[in-house]
Amino acid sequence: MESLFSIRDLRKYYPLGKKKREGRTEEVVLKALDGLSFDIFPGETLGVVGESGSGKSTLGRCILNLISPTGGSVLFRGKPIESLRSWEMKSLRQDMQMVFQNPSSSFNPKLTIGRTLRNVAYFYDMGRQEGRDRINRLLAYVNLDQTVLSRRSEELSGGQLQRLAILRALIPSPAFIMADEPVSALDVSVQAQILNLLDDMKKEFGLTMMFISHELTVVEHICDRILVMYLGTIIEMGDTEDLFSHTAHPYTRALIAAKPKMYPDEETERVVLEGEVPNALDIPQGCRFYSRCPQAVSGRCDKAPPPLREVSGGHWVACYLVQGAASSRGREVMTPVTEQPKAI
Ligand SMILES: Nc1ncnc2c1ncn2[C@@H]1O[C@H](COP(=O)(O)OP(=O)(O)OP(=O)(O)O)[C@@H](O)[C@H]1O
Ligand SMILES: [Mg+2]
Repeated sequence: MESLFSIRDLRKYYPLGKKKREGRTEEVVLKALDGLSFDIFPGETLGVVGESGSGKSTLGRCILNLISPTGGSVLFRGKPIESLRSWEMKSLRQDMQMVFQNPSSSFNPKLTIGRTLRNVAYFYDMGRQEGRDRINRLLAYVNLDQTVLSRRSEELSGGQLQRLAILRALIPSPAFIMADEPVSALDVSVQAQILNLLDDMKKEFGLTMMFISHELTVVEHICDRILVMYLGTIIEMGDTEDLFSHTAHPYTRALIAAKPKMYPDEETERVVLEGEVPNALDIPQGCRFYSRCPQAVSGRCDKAPPPLREVSGGHWVACYLVQGAASSRGREVMTPVTEQPKAI
């Protein structure tokens, strides 16, 4: 299947100035993303999970071209988005929308909700009546009353605002929605409603979605595939069912073990992570998970970063300890695009 997005060797480095070490002055660079390659296929929901600071939001922003990567490429339907001109980007923006974590800060408190939503419709060149009709139809879809249009964001609950944020994203009929922690700021009682709405919306409008969360329980139920990040790299990626039933990376196993049990007597593997989270400013030369890995092998795992390899159909893992399976059935990671394709 042709991908909607192709991400190849994506890097985002933040230079943070200089510091002295052992008498020498060194450039301090924070590697928020360090060589990610993967595809997002039409119609799928791809979950991106990882701890705070692992680079999830940075990845989302690079994909939507809200920030420029330091290296590598993001192709949308085969076109490199980082080299698009502003007018080309406007039409692409219509296809790619975002739902943020904190709905209350994503609405201008001075404007009524109706004004904010109509501004979005006008921005995408809809006529006055066309915009109003679309907003009214979508209001019914997200299960809100038309009276919200005359109110301001401070007068609405977090759940209502997140429904409106979803509505706003749907106004230009996008092909792709990036949802960055869309339920983590909400009360537990409304989280499930918003997740169900996102899931229904994806099916109803045939959308492709990237869903960022630090909680596996959240992505497990609505994502077709899951990508696990650790300190700016992918450490495991695969179909949701496969990732849970054939978990390969010790870090993913620890994340799964940490997820709350559905039933008190449910059997779960106990994996305790020891050691310190490495500093993103001083990335270890071997596996980034080495200092916390319960199975790390000294002299092997701490020498060079393990490559991301396909251990079974569509299941990719970066760990020397699963290399046995990889060497018989697996193949090397997708080759990064080193030459930048020409701008359209
Ligand atoms: N503008 C910036 N300048 C410098 N460093 C940045 C900048 N933006 C992000 N970072 C750093 O990049 C790393 C990744 O940040 P990012 O926000 O992508 O993480 P995240 O996985 O989304 O975390 P969270 O779960 O807390 O939202 C962090 O170490 C962060 O401090
Ligand atoms: Mg984030």
